[in-house]
Order: sequence, then C-alpha cells, then structure tokens
Amino acid sequence: MLKVSCIGCGLRGQRYLNGLASLGTDKVKIVSLCDKDLVRLSQEQEKYQLSDKDVYTDEDRFFANLKSDLCIVSTQDQDHVRHAIKAMKAGSDVLCEKPISDKESEIRKLLDIQKKTGKKVMICHVLRFAPAYKKVKKLIEDGAIGDLAFIDSIENVNYAHQAHSYVRGNWRRKEEASPMIIAKCCHDLDLLVWYTNSKCKSISSVGDLKFFKKENQPDGASDRCVNCKYRGTCPFDAYTIYIKNHFWGKEAVTNIRPITDEVLEKELETSPYGRCVFKCDNDVVDHQLTQIVFNNGIKANLRMSGFTYDAGRIMKFYGTAGQIDLDEGRGTIEIKVFGKEKEVVQISSLVDAISGHGGGDEGLVKATYEYITTGYTEGVTSLDASIESHLMGFAAEESRLSGGKLMEIKH
Ligand SMILES: NC(=O)c1ccc[n+]([C@@H]2O[C@H](COP(=O)([O-])OP(=O)(O)OC[C@H]3O[C@@H](n4cnc5c(N)ncnc54)[C@H](O)[C@@H]3O)[C@@H](O)[C@H]2O)c1
Repeated sequence: MLKVSCIGCGLRGQRYLNGLASLGTDKVKIVSLCDKDLVRLSQEQEKYQLSDKDVYTDEDRFFANLKSDLCIVSTQDQDHVRHAIKAMKAGSDVLCEKPISDKESEIRKLLDIQKKTGKKVMICHVLRFAPAYKKVKKLIEDGAIGDLAFIDSIENVNYAHQAHSYVRGNWRRKEEASPMIIAKCCHDLDLLVWYTNSKCKSISSVGDLKFFKKENQPDGASDRCVNCKYRGTCPFDAYTIYIKNHFWGKEAVTNIRPITDEVLEKELETSPYGRCVFKCDNDVVDHQLTQIVFNNGIKANLRMSGFTYDAGRIMKFYGTAGQIDLDEGRGTIEIKVFGKEKEVVQISSLVDAISGHGGGDEGLVKATYEYITTGYTEGVTSLDASIESHLMGFAAEESRLSGGKLMEIKH
C-alpha cells in the first residue's frame, strides 16, 4: 500500500491525487494534504475523507508530521525545490511538478540531497508518458526513418492560453514563476533530449514580449474587461474567453464548484483573469525561437508562439530514410518512409479521449507508481534525467537576453 501525501492541492495536485487514488484502495491511500487555500484543502479533504489532523495550511506542520511513502509537490514553480527537499528529509519519495526550478544551483542542491537521502524523485514531464509521443519514440528507435538528423518542434501556445497563463495568470512574471522557455518549454526541451538520446552541445535563442504591453492597449479601453467598450469584440475579452468560449482555464478563475456562467460573471469583476491583457504586470515572452545542436550531431528547432489560433504541439522528425509528423492539433501521426505510401495514425486510436496531456497525466501516474514501488524505469523522468532540459532552458534564456549568442553547455 503506497501512502501518498500532497502539498499544493491546486489543479495539478488534484489531478495526480485523483489519478493515484483511482489505481485502487488496495494500492494507494491518500494520507495527508497541505494547501494554503482553505477552500481547496477542504474540498480535497472531503474527497479523500481525511480527518482534520491530516490536513494542513502550514507547510512546516505538514512536513513535521509527514508519514507518506510518496509526497506530491504541486505548488508553484518557485517552491518545488524547498518542498521536495523537506519531503525527502522527512523520509518520502517525491513526485515533483515541473519546472524543477529556474536556478541551476537549486537543482544541483536538490540532486545532492536526493543522493544523500537515497530517495526517488520523479519530475512531471508528462508528455514522455503520452501514447502518441511514446509511439514516435518507438518508431525512431526501431529505425523507421533511418538515422534521425533533425527535429522541427513547434509549440502552438494558442492566443487564449497565452492570455490566461502568461499574461494574466500564474506564469506571467519570470521572477515569480520562471522564464517561458522553462515554464512552458521545459516539456519540449525534455522531449528533444529524449528523442535525440543525447545531451545538448550548444543552443541559441531569440524572442521577446512583443504585444501584451500597455502601449498596445486600444484607444479608450478599460483596465478591466467588465466595463470595457471592447467587451465582446476584443479576442482577449475575458467574458468571451471564459464564458462564451468555455476556455478550460476557467477552473483557475474560481474555486466555486460547479462553475456556472453567473459564478464566472461575478468572479471576473475582481479576478486577475478579468484584467485587460494590455494592462497586466507580465514580463515573459510571447514568442521565442531556439536552435539546438546535440552532442551526437542531431539538430533541433523549437518555435514557441503565443500568437496562434490553434493549440497543440507539432513535431517533425527528419531521418535519412523518412519523416514522421506528430500533430496534436490535427490529432495525427504521419509516417512517411521515402518511396512508400504514407501511413496515418489517428492519435485518438492510441488514447482515452478524456485524459489530460493526451494521456500523459494518466501515464505519468502509473509510471510513478511503478517507479516508486518496483523501481521500474522505462522512459522515467527521474531528477537525473530531467536536469538536461533545464540546463538547456537556462542557456537558451541567457542567449535570448544577450541577443541570440551561441551558448555551449558544460556538463
Ligand atoms: N506537468 C505539467 O504539464 C504542468 C501543467 C500545468 C502546470 N504545471 C506546474 O504545476 C504547478 C502547479 O500548477 P497549478 O496549475 O496546479 O497551480 P495552482 O495555483 O492551481 O495550484 C497550486 C496550489 O499550491 C498552493 N500553495 C502554494 N504555496 C503553498 C504553500 N507554501 N503551502 C501549501 N500550499 C501552497 C496554492 O494555494 C494552490 O492551491 C506549477 O509549478 C506549474 O508550473 C505543470
């Protein structure tokens, strides 16, 4: 029986708790929870029928009484290392949200403590566990397209998601969260490391915040959508995004459940998510282009854009004998071996339509359970394996800030 605790019972924490609990009462028991937000804490307490002594709003009391085998650390970006260290010192293995940290020194410290305590740390790079991404990995490993030469990777953030998370929301400021290349793109960088099966030799990057700033606010616009003359016509109007278009981010707008239109109407009057996208305190980039050379000679592009109509990643893999195109938006994997008819695989045939990150959330939960209980390690995003993507992100950000300078990564 795996005893599980969780600090940070927000959207991600709830998903992992739910995923682990659904493995069965004979396998997993949720034993304690911590969140500063009493509403969220009580909702989860009720779900897992915990007594008052097993739920905490104070992290020190939570860790002092920790009795779990696995602690989920799903607080915000800047808290992961502190919470993971406290959990390991209290004797627990850790499932830690990405990004690990935006500072190399903190990651090294975490690795050092992990080695000293002998605890396991799994990082939530969920896409490695999504069936579509696993299928492409297998095709490449089986030599379906010969020797891999180059990967072209596009991160279509989507304009509403950009506005929600990176302009109005939790990941809008790099000091409070992390730079975009770490916050959003550490998944993409991790996938590139996984597919190329190599460490990074050099990286360069350009990008900036072009659009979501006050000089681009339309004439006469208000600082909140509630009383703006462009309400209903501006594509970033919060009422259009959350109420008319039912954007998934509405779950972050309110803790009230069920989420009705009336609840959202009221919340958006005062919520950060009701602010004009041109009058927020955001500083993370809205587009960024990165070029990478790996130690084994494979090269990659990563293009991140908040200016996209579509959402979803596109990855194109070019090998000496063919090409594979994985397109989340279209929901297809195209296998194009030179001289043959192309084969099209529908991603929906590989995955349960209702699962998050294309089945990656569910896959990560199962892999974590196996990793912690049996040590099984296929595709595992352990701390060791996950560091490379972060080193690449730090170097890319340094390159971006110096106008695209080529950075060599020293390992
Ligand atoms: N793996 C992925 O694909 C993925 C996707 C989205 C977000 N994330 C990451 O997951 C993390 C959580 O994101 P989220 O969307 O769940 O955010 P969230 O704001 O919904 O949840 C975070 C929770 O942590 C709580 N919290 C913060 N500090 C705390 C403290 N000191 N003690 C106790 N509770 C505390 C907050 O009250 C909140 O309920 C972030 O680091 C984010 O970058 C990962």
